[in-house]
Order: sequence, then C-alpha cells, then structure tokens
Amino acid sequence: MRQHHRTLRLLGSLLLVAMGVSVTGAAPAQAASPTPLDRVVPAPASVAPSGSPYRITPDTRIRVDDSREARRTGEYLATVLRPSTGYRLPVTAHGAGGIRLRLAEGPFGAEGYRLDSGRKGVTITAAKPAGLFHGVQTLRQLLPPAVEKDSVQPGPWLVAGGTIQDTPRYGWRGAMLDVSRHFFTVDQVKRYIDQLALYKINKLHLHLSDDQGWRIAIDSWPRLATYGGSTQVGGGPGGHYTKADYKEIVRYAASRYLEVVPEIDMPGHTNAALASYAELNCDGVAPPLYTGTDVGFSSLCVGKEITYDFVDDVIRELAALTPGRYLHIGGDEAHSTSHADYVKFMDRVQPIVAEYGKTVIGWHQLTGANPSRGALAQYWGLDGTSAEEKAQVAAAARGGTGIILSPADRIYLDMKYTADTPLGLDWAGLVEVKRSYDWDPGTYLPGAPASAIRGVEAPLWTETIAKSADIEYMAFPRLAGAAELGWSPASTHEWEAYKVRLAAQGPRWEALGIGYYRSPQVPWQTAE
Ligand code: ACM
Repeated sequence: MRQHHRTLRLLGSLLLVAMGVSVTGAAPAQAASPTPLDRVVPAPASVAPSGSPYRITPDTRIRVDDSREARRTGEYLATVLRPSTGYRLPVTAHGAGGIRLRLAEGPFGAEGYRLDSGRKGVTITAAKPAGLFHGVQTLRQLLPPAVEKDSVQPGPWLVAGGTIQDTPRYGWRGAMLDVSRHFFTVDQVKRYIDQLALYKINKLHLHLSDDQGWRIAIDSWPRLATYGGSTQVGGGPGGHYTKADYKEIVRYAASRYLEVVPEIDMPGHTNAALASYAELNCDGVAPPLYTGTDVGFSSLCVGKEITYDFVDDVIRELAALTPGRYLHIGGDEAHSTSHADYVKFMDRVQPIVAEYGKTVIGWHQLTGANPSRGALAQYWGLDGTSAEEKAQVAAAARGGTGIILSPADRIYLDMKYTADTPLGLDWAGLVEVKRSYDWDPGTYLPGAPASAIRGVEAPLWTETIAKSADIEYMAFPRLAGAAELGWSPASTHEWEAYKVRLAAQGPRWEALGIGYYRSPQVPWQTAE
C-alpha cells in the first residue's frame, strides 16, 4: 500500500517535471518555458519568435545609455525586478549582455520600441524615452507573473527569444478618474497610475470638480477647495489636493510617461463652486453643498461678468500647474443652461484656455456650440444616442475637431458588468468584458473620418466607487481592453485571441494585489 502511494507520488512528480514544473523546494514552482512573445496586452504590432530565451540571473545587469531618461527607466525596471528575483541588478552604462535600454534613431515614433531577445540578452531600443518605458512594460509581461511580487520567488526568469516591433495606433490612450464624487488621495491616484502604465496608457484625465466636490486648491478663490471640497457623495469628508499634492501627481504620472489632463466641468456640474461663493449664482444665493447623485441641476451664471473673472482665475492657476497641452472644460449635461447661454459661455471660455497656452477639450456636447480651432471633443454617447447627435459630432470631426472615443456602453468603467455587479451604475447598460472590447475605434462613429479619431479613453465615474479596491474591480479587466483598443493595430483585433492573452493577466493582477472581476467570458489561468 505504502509502496503504491510512493509510486503514485513519483509518477505525479514525473508528470509535473514533464509539464515543466519544478518539484523541488517548498516555494511554489513556475513554468520553465517562457511566456510566448505574443502573450502581451496590448497586442504588439509585430512579433517574430526565434532562437533561445534569455535568462535573468544573479549576474544580470541593466545596461543603460548615458542619458538621464534611459537611466531612470532602467532604475524603474530594477525596482520592479529586484524584490521578486532577489538579484542585485545594477543599473550601469558598462559591460555586455544583460538587459539593455538603448535610445537610437529608428522607425519607432514618439512611443514605439523594438525588443530583441536571445541567449545573450534583451535589448529594448527606442527613439524616445517613452518608447523605452513602454518596451519595459512589454518585458514585464514576458516574465512570469510572480515577478510582480514583493518577496523573493523561485524563478526561473526566462524571456522568450525573438523580436517585437511595436508602435501605437493612437496617440491618445486615456483613463479618467472622477475624484469629485468620491475623493481619492495622492497615494490612491499613484496606485492607479502604476496600473495604467502597465498597459501603456499615456493620459490621466482627472475630473477635478463637480456638484459634489471641488478638489483642487485655487489661491484666488480659496473656499472652492476648503468648503466646496469638504464633502462627497454620501456625505463623507471629501478632500482636496493642495497645489503641492497636485504637482506630485503630475510628477509621478510623468515618471510613468502619463500626461495629466485636468478637467473643471462647466457651466453645469458646478454646485460645489456655487455653494462656495454666493456671487457666482444668478440670484446671489449660495445653494447648500450636495451629496446626492443627480445631474443637470446646477449652472454657472452666464450673464454675470464675475463668472468670467472666476473662470479666468481658475484656468490661469490650473494651467500654471499643468505641463501638458490640454485643459478639459467639461460642458456635459448643462441641462440648467439654455442652449443660447451654453453657446455664449463656450464662446467666452474657450479663448481663456488658449490665452493660458492650453488646448480645449470638452465632452462632445461642445460640438453643439462652436469648438475652437484645434479643440478635441470627447464622445461619450452609446448605441442608442440619436442619429442627429452622432451626426453633429461627425460633422465637427469633418470640420477639424479631433475626437476622443469614450462610448459609455463600451468603456465607461463604472457600468456594471452584469446585473449582479455590486458596484457601479447601469444607465448605459450592462457592459461585460467582451462588449467592452469588441468594437473598432476607427469605424465606430458613422461619418467621422478615421483621421479625426485621436484615440480612446476609459472614464471611471465614482458615484459608487469609494476606495482603491472598488476602482480595481471595475477597471480590471476592462481597462486592459481599452488600452488595447488604443494601442494595437486594427489587424490584431480579435476577441478569441484577446481573451486568451487577457486570461494570462489574471495571475499578474493577483501578484499585484489587484482584485479583478473574474468574468466567465474569459478562460482565466489560475495563479502559479
Ligand atoms: C458624462 O458622463 N456626463 C460625460
């Protein structure tokens, strides 16, 4: 009987060995065959497997060009790899082999890269620092998920042999976080930035003001933050970013090659401002703070001059905090502003944005006014949006207004996955993972030329979202699909292949402590 058991155990072990699983040692073993080069999200533009894998060892160096940016990305990579490998991984300009980050002329554009992997080393080449950073994200995904853990793991740390050449389809690959309905701290925002960076997202749009809270300190109107930011949906304490806080978010995002796009929503969605300063109201009476979730009840007073002094001050101070090119002025759901007033307001406000050196973005209702030259409109309609409204946006696109696509029934990350999803809303419908991925930005908006589409952005509104775990449950897995829609060539776009690549992300999210929605549409791998 004993003998029989031992034989069975031995047979089992042999089977595991045959499957490439180590049976020695107490630590959980990892597959000894490397992740295929094409098992990356977003899908790379081209993949050519060849030759032997590279193995990261205790002697591996991270070799960088003698440039500040390459060194910084080298240090970032070392920070990812050191805790789990337990290796020293010095970042150095000297030596041969190892992992090399190299800036060089080539057909890479502003964000593309090439990754060459073989027995002697891995080289990531890019023309610009952002390309090196994105190449490093690809390298992360080629390593076992356990590389993301913060304690030493057994390895082996293999990178499949071959070449990836990669460049994004769109320059705009965004995620929006609503920090107004619920406030999120600097550290919570940084955590999300790190998650966005893994999928090569390059814009972080912060919805900084709404009826329920004003979240950015404005020196010339201090009560906006101190009073207007003092609560949130449900009546909690809210909060706001000091200018130092905000600069830290901008700096951290830039270190992950994300540009922060600040939004002050106007003329509607302004109760927090109207509550803070009575003189901004047409009747001179400040409304109470608001902690519910209705929309469309507030408006700045379009006929009062002080409104434009206010807007000028806010935009001037916000522009001064913003190294990026864009400033988002909202413009959605202005149901308490007449159409004539809406047009008048946007005609006054857009030149203020230009005066402070920024380019206007508005929600797509801006196309019902007169979008300024170079403005971008963010489309948040759905299948059921009227043909007239879609045609209005398409006409603006033909007239030169760039379009960012955020269709609510596809990539609003706050929509419930199913009727049972404990968080989120369902006004745009239920959005399972396949639905969120299965559309083509290039042909999505009838009548809009493909050249007008600047990219894709996944907004996360936070009426029901109060903590990082909530963000993560709604963002993962759909965020990865939005990132792929923005990055990968249309030719790679295919649900059946995507769901397999997506499934491979599950153990990585587990290693990173991300609690994701285990959609039954995806053949999840179990953690190693
Ligand atoms: C929006 O969802 N109101 C832009």
